[in-house]
Amino acid sequence: MTHFLDIHKTSPDDLRGIIDQAAAMKSARAGRPKGMADDEQPLAGRMVALIFEKPSTRTRVSFDVGVRQMGGETMVLSGKDMQLGHGETIADTARVMSRYVDLIMIRTFDETVLTEMAEYSDVPVINGLTDRTHPCQIMADILTYEEHRGPIRGKKVVWTGDGNNVCASFLHAAGQFGFDLTFTGPSQLDPEEEFVGLARRAGSTITIERDPAKAVAGADLIVADTWVSMHDSQSSKERRHNMLRPYQVNDALMAHAKPDALFMHCLPAHREEEVTSAVMDGPQSVIFDEAENRLHAQKAVMRWCLGV
Ligand code: CP
Repeated sequence: MTHFLDIHKTSPDDLRGIIDQAAAMKSARAGRPKGMADDEQPLAGRMVALIFEKPSTRTRVSFDVGVRQMGGETMVLSGKDMQLGHGETIADTARVMSRYVDLIMIRTFDETVLTEMAEYSDVPVINGLTDRTHPCQIMADILTYEEHRGPIRGKKVVWTGDGNNVCASFLHAAGQFGFDLTFTGPSQLDPEEEFVGLARRAGSTITIERDPAKAVAGADLIVADTWVSMHDSQSSKERRHNMLRPYQVNDALMAHAKPDALFMHCLPAHREEEVTSAVMDGPQSVIFDEAENRLHAQKAVMRWCLGV
């Protein structure tokens, strides 16, 4: 079974193949209306379940559109409307879903829901975000970086703020795609040591630098994310904002990076908090290309999972 659970669980060759296919599929449909089918229909006759236990705009719409462009059909399910949250085990849910659909994408809180779903499913399972990782986002980010600046291998990526689930998948990608990553944020919000260790063992230079100006010196790419993620309690908001304010990405911080450095944010963003509008809407920002590339990258991920 070919699941897409995390970037570090997928081989570098397969990851490269997915990125290359995403780029080829994007270019093949350049200029077409969004609703027009691709020339190739590799998902014809396939049914894809999209399960959401958390809110989503990009993941939900991009997966749904992507399946349709490739000739498949989708059913979008909310976790709270399923038996998933009402006592039926994940294992039983996985076995039942496998009798109806060809592919499952799930966005959930606890990583063990994803891994148990994959363990008991007879069809491929894709990670659409857990509290710990967000691999589809980073596949789109790699595609975006490379279409603007060429190969990401050997580049310096700087993650600012909270070492959260998106940061975790960037660390996984550093190891698999061969780039270096500097984390700059308060020590209370450092990324998980396990993931830092994984990237280092894969040969990447992973640096923790508390001073954001020093961190971004020589950066090829600066990345920010919301200061309060979906799984963080709202009661922690003020404390987190106070800790994270020095790490806001603004014009002054961008000026310390390379002149052609790109800015990324997976969105949704909180303007004037983790990043200013001047940076988000400025010439170095590629945030809406990232959002678009969720569609292309995930189409390639689904083809890889299904072997079609
Ligand atoms: N970036 C991202 O995953 O967006 P959504 O939460 O809207 O899906």
